[in-house]
Amino acid sequence: EKGGYEHYMRKEIHEQPEALRQTITGRLDVDAGDVDLDVSFPPGFLADVEEIRVVACGTSYYAGRYAAQLFEELAGVRATVEIASEYEFGAGRTPDRTLVVAVTQSGETADTLGAVRRANEAGARTFAVTNTLGSTVTREVDGTAFIRAGPEIGVAATKTFASQVATLAMLAVSIGRDRGALAAADARAVLEDLQGLPGAVQQVLDKESRVREAAQTYQDSEAFFFVGRALGVPVALEGALKLKEISYDHAEGFAAGELKHGPLALVTPETPVLAVLTEGSRANETMNNVTEAQTRGAPALGCVSADAEYDTLDVDFPVPDVGIVEPLVANVYLQLFAYHVANEKGRPIDKPRNLAKSVTVE
Ligand code: M6R
Repeated sequence: EKGGYEHYMRKEIHEQPEALRQTITGRLDVDAGDVDLDVSFPPGFLADVEEIRVVACGTSYYAGRYAAQLFEELAGVRATVEIASEYEFGAGRTPDRTLVVAVTQSGETADTLGAVRRANEAGARTFAVTNTLGSTVTREVDGTAFIRAGPEIGVAATKTFASQVATLAMLAVSIGRDRGALAAADARAVLEDLQGLPGAVQQVLDKESRVREAAQTYQDSEAFFFVGRALGVPVALEGALKLKEISYDHAEGFAAGELKHGPLALVTPETPVLAVLTEGSRANETMNNVTEAQTRGAPALGCVSADAEYDTLDVDFPVPDVGIVEPLVANVYLQLFAYHVANEKGRPIDKPRNLAKSVTVE
């Protein structure tokens, strides 16, 4: 049941603090700087991994892009992310030292299952991050971590994205600690930020009316651009996907630095720019790119760290201080923005045209 909400999507956006609590509960030993993801690996399974390759589709692919940066930064392992339908193991690689991580909410996405099978055939170690107990992917991999977000009914993935990123962050810490690449004190700081995540998301949800107002102001725009850098890039891409799939408006996300390499030609007063301006997203440099768009008349909306101030923004959405998961918190503003634009337009938010919750064909 929708529990008083008009759409599952809005309900699920609001369930994020609780979903995230479930994701992290019992898994963090903050004092020791350790994580227990409850995965029964053979001993040493993670310790000698040389490369991590994340495979996923859609929103899960963006969670994977967030994670790949965390794997490099926290676990000290080379990490790439590939769209599952494009994934090939590739000649000249070393499968026995490669961990392929499939990120899939449903555990049933055909493209992702296909990638896992190709990785298994090549002899790689495989791992799944999923929301669904007993799903097909769990039977095909060497190990699974559950994101514990609870059932998601809306076609648009919301709370599962948050719980995927939180789970992958824990996995990054866990690998980093196993490999001796991450000091206890540094791990502790990340785990404290993860612990702060449910509360930080709640603070964003409490500002929903501000997002609704912005959605009402800008809903009739020609197109919407989403930008960020570093961890802000996957969030920008996800923000654009969410808006396009439920509002049917044209939206595009890209690395902020790319704006001047082409998309700037499309920027007008009719194309708002939404920017991730938090920790982990190289906010000052991103703001320089936003200013270039403003110079061409574009309205600018930004998700901004609590301790930063960008006076020239048309709308600013404050993001509480939670370190490397700040871009993930910023994403909640983008979810709300997409929801309210679509709602103003009377779209069938939980079942957008042409889309299915689980895509079981390749
Ligand atoms: O179940 P999965 O995570 O494997 O699904 C992958 C994509 O189909 C999915 O994330 C899709 O992009 C979202 N529902 C969009 O909101």
